[in-house]
Amino acid sequence: MRVAIATETDNGETRIAATPETVRKLVGLGAIVAVQAGAGQRAGLPDADFAKAGAEIAADAAATLQGADIVLAVRRPAAAKLKRVTPGALVIAIMDPYGHDAELAALAKAQVQAFAMELMPRITRAQSMDVLSSQANLAGYRAVLDGAAAYGRALPMMMTAAGTVPAARVFVMGVGVAGLQAIATARRLGAIVTATDVRPATKEQVESLGAKFIAVEDEEFRQAETAGGYAKEMSAEYRAKQAALVASHIARQDIVITTALIPGRPAPKLVDAAMVASMRPGSVLVDLAVERGGNVEGAEAGKSVDHGGITIVGDSSALRLASSASQLYAKNLLTFVETLIDKDAKKVSVNYDDELVKATLLTRDGAVVHPNFQPKSA
Ligand code: NAI
Repeated sequence: MRVAIATETDNGETRIAATPETVRKLVGLGAIVAVQAGAGQRAGLPDADFAKAGAEIAADAAATLQGADIVLAVRRPAAAKLKRVTPGALVIAIMDPYGHDAELAALAKAQVQAFAMELMPRITRAQSMDVLSSQANLAGYRAVLDGAAAYGRALPMMMTAAGTVPAARVFVMGVGVAGLQAIATARRLGAIVTATDVRPATKEQVESLGAKFIAVEDEEFRQAETAGGYAKEMSAEYRAKQAALVASHIARQDIVITTALIPGRPAPKLVDAAMVASMRPGSVLVDLAVERGGNVEGAEAGKSVDHGGITIVGDSSALRLASSASQLYAKNLLTFVETLIDKDAKKVSVNYDDELVKATLLTRDGAVVHPNFQPKSA
């Protein structure tokens, strides 16, 4: 059984899908593990550490992927890489399947069995495989640090002989995994924290972290959570009411961190240009949803932009904590892989009736098999 980890080629990707620790475990499970030379460099993981853990260091992507039964990746491999993958092999990554029909068709055409880690069901058994949580948790923490770094004032109140520095006001929009970590981090740094979400369950969570909850709490709000625990897209009326409340609040904030997402949909627009302009010069917005279309008008993925003295940070994410992000992601992958192999026979053995497989398997035998991503013409 061969497991391959090639270098991520996506622009800006810093993580790697394995660590020496997970390689050691895979080798212990009877796998031959190939890691492409330099693949861990940006996550602070040198080839020598992978070699010491029992990996073969392969010179290039072709040599790494040669004969692999399982390919572990952070992002969906591009066509050039797929060509090198043996038909039938398992390719496990964050596949970003929504709106990428052509890319899913390419995975099918390559005859690989593509698994999307972000579709892992949020059930107890799969908690240690939950990449959305592991990465969002780090992203929420990092967003506060990036916001604080771009902000020209201190976060905690400081009473000094030379005068008192007031505490910064931090507003977190979207209180899922990332938002909760952002609240906790901002509180630890001494900021005055408020937060909003459309799911009523978050109110208590926000308050238990010592922050204040701000939202229009009408009937629609009380019904806003799906059975899966995710947000629903809100009506135009609700969004208008919420926007009015948020607009007056944002004008008094120093740092706004947005994390709002709706699965399978573009990120909801929560902060418009007028709200941005209402903030004091020197204020900062950090948009963690920027890669999914953004919550903040004017946010640009991969960079920080200045809007009349107000900074909109669009390059904060778990990527900026490549080492920790890789450590957790690699562990998420390892625990999933353990369910896909026969440990005694030391070979791949997928149970297609397993709910984890059903939820994550996108392509098999040359076709897109996931019910949510069937080609439009089918
Ligand atoms: P997410 O990344 O999909 O969205 C982030 C947050 O944005 C959510 O809290 C969502 O309600 C909020 N949001 C969406 N539209 C909004 C709007 N218009 N205004 C304000 N906020 C808006 O969410 P995440 O972090 O994936 O968490 C989703 C749920 O899953 C939560 O209930 C979380 O506690 C739960 N969860 C369960 C796990 C488990 O049982 N194993 C593990 C991790 C999370």
